Amino acid sequence: MIAIIGGTGLTALEGLALTESVEVNTPYGRPSAAIEKGELNQSLVYFLARHGKQHSLTPHSVNYRANIWALQSLGVTHVIGVNAVGGIHSNMGPEVIVIPDQIIDYTWGRESSFSSEGNVIHADFTYPYSMSFRQTLITAAKKAGVAVIEGGVYGATQGPRLETTAEINRLEKDGCDIVGMTAMPEAILARELKLKYANISLVVNMAAGRSEGLITMEDIQQVLDVGMVNIRKLLALAIVD
Ligand code: HPA
Repeated sequence: MIAIIGGTGLTALEGLALTESVEVNTPYGRPSAAIEKGELNQSLVYFLARHGKQHSLTPHSVNYRANIWALQSLGVTHVIGVNAVGGIHSNMGPEVIVIPDQIIDYTWGRESSFSSEGNVIHADFTYPYSMSFRQTLITAAKKAGVAVIEGGVYGATQGPRLETTAEINRLEKDGCDIVGMTAMPEAILARELKLKYANISLVVNMAAGRSEGLITMEDIQQVLDVGMVNIRKLLALAIVD
């Protein structure tokens, strides 16, 4: 069973024939929202709005552990995280979709493990995304006629503020291609619970200092409106029971 965690611009899944809305309690507290179960393209899927239905949770206050734990408790085996990101690499401008294959984690102070005293987990994270599930998404994109960049390094920053130009210069030197605020700890928590996890990132702006002018929410919103249409097309073909 596949679940989609929708980020900014994807708080609801158009075309999802809702059959159930599930409130899950977890040992880590409540997930960001009720988890919606429905049919997309004749397949069952769960959907969770990462920032809540009203988009009220900041990237650092999302209860990532509750979200991932709740999905697993419902029998989910595969998770697609959808994120809006800034582009650092010159090929990765607004409206480009990236299926990243690596992550550098710059976040701090987030609950980022299910480890507890007496149960220390040292999960292998060499390949932070499931390579086979990434391939499924790439194949779905091809079938849907949606262009994607097959690989890239996602730099996960703390937010909620955007970065300075110097910070983006540093991320670029580190090898980051895109920058966002929510890839971590979502990916490692999914790995700890042995879920197959992959990410679809929509570039909604050039990162700080990579374009003329400032980054405005109005510009971002316009790109989100256009780009999410393609993401929805891709998702519809990626979901298989
Ligand atoms: N930086 C960090 N996160 C983001 C950006 C950005 O430029 N755009 C969308 N999410």
